[in-house]
Amino acid sequence: MNNKIIDDLNWRYATKKFNPEMKISSEDFDTICESLRLVPSSYGLQPVKYIVVNDKSMREKLLPLAYNQPQITAASHLIVICSYRNISPNMVGEHLSLMSETRNIPLEDLSKFGENMNASFAKLSTEELCEWTAKQAYISLGHIMHSCANLRIDATPMEGFNKKSFDEALDLTSKNLQSVLLLAVGYRSPEDNLARMAKVRKSTEDLFETI
Ligand SMILES: Cc1cc2nc3c(=O)[nH]c(=O)nc-3n(C[C@H](O)[C@H](O)[C@H](O)COP(=O)(O)O)c2cc1C
Repeated sequence: MNNKIIDDLNWRYATKKFNPEMKISSEDFDTICESLRLVPSSYGLQPVKYIVVNDKSMREKLLPLAYNQPQITAASHLIVICSYRNISPNMVGEHLSLMSETRNIPLEDLSKFGENMNASFAKLSTEELCEWTAKQAYISLGHIMHSCANLRIDATPMEGFNKKSFDEALDLTSKNLQSVLLLAVGYRSPEDNLARMAKVRKSTEDLFETI
């Protein structure tokens, strides 16, 4: 087993009490942002947006919309992981252009790929599209938790918030976005007893089946 990976994963826990005085350095926060930029997604489309809420008054406004969970205001940084509500042929076109420029592939060579994408999105209702893009946001969550642990930065994944109210408070619908998850990042308070509790996990035998 790779001890570094396992140590990182045992070190991390869903932090309840952050130390509000401790802020993540801009260098470490840049690493977090770059890690999020490198998250894989279906078709490579990245139908997500990360909204970093630094504004103190906005964090206070969001607090009751997340059942007063203390991480909202105490964490060094609060990231609202959003996904797009709709994927237009225009967005697909932008993705193809980026691919073409980045890899120096003629745009015409990507047209079939674009047609396939557009055809599969056209079959989905608005709700199904929202659900599909939200799944992509969950990939970001899993990925960033490990990156943070590697940096010894605490991170709490959160879906305990009122999405509709967050969408309104952050004016997300007008931007074709929906809030999916929150990620509170910072440094644990020594008073957080959860940090000292053993991990509750099923056994390997329970979780895996080899066929
Ligand atoms: C998708 C997701 C949503 C979660 N939502 C919350 C939340 O709203 N508030 C919270 O304190 N913890 C939340 N958690 C943390 C879980 O309770 C925690 O990850 C789980 O109990 C395992 O504990 P550990 O992360 O400390 O190992 C969430 C975790 C996940 C993966």
